[in-house]
Amino acid sequence: TPSAPPKAKKHDYVVVKDFAGSIMGRLAHVFKKAIKEAFPTVSVPLVLAEATNPKFGDYQCNSAMGISAALKAQGTAKRPAEVAADIVAKLPVCPLISKTEIPPAGFINVFLNEEFIAKQCGEISRHGVRLPTIESRRVIVDFSSPNIAKEMHVGHLRSTIIGDAISRLFEAIGFDVLRLNHIGDWGTQFGMLIAHLFDRFPNFQKETPAIGDLQSFYKESKKRFDEDAEFKKRAYECVVKLQSSQPEFIKAWNDICDVSRKSNNEVYDKLDIKLNERGESYYHNRMEAIVEELKTRSFLREEEGRHLMFPTGCDIPLTVVKSDGGFTYDTSDLAALKNRLFEENGDWLIYVVDAGQSLHFETIFSAGRDLGWYDEAVKRVEHVGFGLVLGEDKKKFKTRSGETVRLKDLLDEGVRRSEEKLKEKCRDRDMSEAELTAARDAVAYGGIKYADLSHTRTQDYIFSYDRMLDDKGNTAVYLLYAYARIRSIVRQSGVSQEEMDKYAASNELLPLGHPKEVKLAKQVLKLSDVILQVVDTLMLHTLCDYLYNLSTTFTEFYSECYVVEKLEGTSKVNMNRLLLAHVTANTMETALNILGIKPVPKM
Ligand code: ARG
Repeated sequence: TPSAPPKAKKHDYVVVKDFAGSIMGRLAHVFKKAIKEAFPTVSVPLVLAEATNPKFGDYQCNSAMGISAALKAQGTAKRPAEVAADIVAKLPVCPLISKTEIPPAGFINVFLNEEFIAKQCGEISRHGVRLPTIESRRVIVDFSSPNIAKEMHVGHLRSTIIGDAISRLFEAIGFDVLRLNHIGDWGTQFGMLIAHLFDRFPNFQKETPAIGDLQSFYKESKKRFDEDAEFKKRAYECVVKLQSSQPEFIKAWNDICDVSRKSNNEVYDKLDIKLNERGESYYHNRMEAIVEELKTRSFLREEEGRHLMFPTGCDIPLTVVKSDGGFTYDTSDLAALKNRLFEENGDWLIYVVDAGQSLHFETIFSAGRDLGWYDEAVKRVEHVGFGLVLGEDKKKFKTRSGETVRLKDLLDEGVRRSEEKLKEKCRDRDMSEAELTAARDAVAYGGIKYADLSHTRTQDYIFSYDRMLDDKGNTAVYLLYAYARIRSIVRQSGVSQEEMDKYAASNELLPLGHPKEVKLAKQVLKLSDVILQVVDTLMLHTLCDYLYNLSTTFTEFYSECYVVEKLEGTSKVNMNRLLLAHVTANTMETALNILGIKPVPKM
């Protein structure tokens, strides 16, 4: 079995300039400082976590044990509790911390200052949800990337959903993002497709050929290719003519690509996903240049007519030129890598492709480093892999008859079921036609996206309409209901946006009293922490978990704290709570937008 090449080192690509609401970020900052001052000779990673029990405060710094062990190794004996005390003594003044406690085991329990929480929430109520400011990067996200002439399948759907969310996340923090659809639109299969097109639609130059279903067109031409030697020969000639850009062949190729393009775009439109198509064909000339470069720099080895490159640490070489002179998937990815680094000036390159291709990408990246194209300390180049989509039988997701599920059918089925559900609950009674359609689509597309994003990216996940349309548990439907409910609480209070703004403007701090208000406010502020974390790990389920916790925390708050109190015929609005609810809804909206889920005000 081939061993994987060495994994890329991790660096601090994420340089935070303003933590916004981030509590963890700020705490990490002051604790790192204190530890460095108290123990300049040891370097152990900071261990900071949310406290598991309110008795232990809000956060815990658990670095003292590690430092104590490191000191011991250096010949100094110091108990963890003493180490912890030394750290606390060096803590800079920090408005965020009200007190610290050191239990005998040497943890440092951190209690947050409620005034700080109230102040941060006040700011959000006046200026809107703010995300951390991170030094800007040019990020290139390669995602979706289906192959022409083969139906886009659920694997591509995962890539599409994850890649879009990653792009949205980066756009939300102000990065410069280039979304690329690296479609498989080049290669020898086009020879047989074009030859078949010439036979089936002799008139194709004058009128657009009605290819219809590209999959059966592909199957027909493949059959001929396998059975008919004369056809096979013509197919090869077509490849050569296509690659030398003869107009008639380019036209035929374009017609074929257009069929795929149209059906793919339908999927992207429904899911509200923006992509720039830049397929393998785009790199054709660049591939020629790459081969030249590799030849002159003596990176190629010839074996049985093929030209191979053996990148450092990789067992399987890259096939740069085939024995028939053609290029491969490897060649196009080398060209794409160079293009993204040098022509596009990407600082951070992301490839959202199923985990099955990880060896391919590790090999390409290793080649890029061998060629001196980039330095890992400066640029981050990574394969963001993901697991398979499984059916409810835990086998590869297929239709009952064993075919690939067409994405359009999959989405349509979601919409149908979502409408059925809404009607079951009689939601159509209090909504207009347009509101119902908006809710239906939000639930269907949001449900499909969320089901994918809420699962740990690297693992396989089971596609189930029943699960994703369930209004209980960590699902999009649950969140969309929770969101709509908060909006409706605010709407029904009768307090106008103006009145709320006025109240917000006159209170520097958003007043917090009840413990559930404090708890909700803390949860609201955690968005910044979560964003910082996800920007680094690109694990979007963390953001989903956050949203789910925020909704349940809101429910806890709402069941104990009256927002509107009805007393003997009159009603009194607790403005601070109303504002907190409003801030919660805005926070949810920000997070949902990053996930590509459209919240609707009414459901
Ligand atoms: N078209 C490929 C597939 O369907 C995915 C391409 C991913 N991007 C890349 N630069 N290789 O498997």
